[in-house]
Amino acid sequence: TSRTAIIAGNWKMNYGPQKASEFTMEIMPSLGQLMRSYPRILCLLCPPAISLSSVREVVDAMPAPRIELGAQNMYYEEKGAFTGEIAPAMVKELCTSVILGHSERRTYFGETDELVNKKARAAFAHRLRPIICIGENLEQFESGSTQEVIRTQIQGSLAGFTPEQAARAVIAYEPIWAIGTGKAATAEQAGLVVHFIREQYSEMYGTEAGDAVRILYGGSVTSENIAEFIAHPDIDGALVGGASLKPDFVEIVRKTI
Ligand code: G3H
Repeated sequence: TSRTAIIAGNWKMNYGPQKASEFTMEIMPSLGQLMRSYPRILCLLCPPAISLSSVREVVDAMPAPRIELGAQNMYYEEKGAFTGEIAPAMVKELCTSVILGHSERRTYFGETDELVNKKARAAFAHRLRPIICIGENLEQFESGSTQEVIRTQIQGSLAGFTPEQAARAVIAYEPIWAIGTGKAATAEQAGLVVHFIREQYSEMYGTEAGDAVRILYGGSVTSENIAEFIAHPDIDGALVGGASLKPDFVEIVRKTI
């Protein structure tokens, strides 16, 4: 395919400014070398919002191509009385990308498809790349309603983009039962759903956008299993949680290229 791979590390609520800076310094030499050698991959570091500046400083001090920052969330309003939130323009000062609608946001903080959609539109308005997360939970998986759940999430979270925006969006398919459990989906299972997502997307935005959109798998990805996912023609990379907190993250990038 002509799609560039993406490996995104979602640090979740780990590493404050100090630790984030130390960890970034630890991985940057080997990560930078990989990124200089292979042009067809994009690497995203997504620390907690409070640590974005300190990671930014390290990345700027050790320049390497296509290592970018992403936020884990943001609000859709421009500014004002929204205590505790961060605005798209603030994210844009340090990041190229923003994770939206992660299942943890949906589960613990009540985010709906409608809210995720507003945030995605705000991301586009600020030229941020949204990484929009979707995925079924265990009960839905076991009852065979995965496709139905995915279709609803796609129609709700991804509605109303222009075809150009649609092509620039990134989708992360994360089966909730595979997140942080050490039980990854098989590449075959994930590939089927990712293919289904691409079909739905093509129906909404045309085959050009469907071909262009990058779709990542997330859920217990490590350097041991990344190669299987990457080998699937519809899977363009991974959203990595736990393993992105360790030097194993660099190995994941290495095995993607
Ligand atoms: O955003 C990342 C995912 O939720 C996956 O997390 O790799 O720890 O399973 P995990």
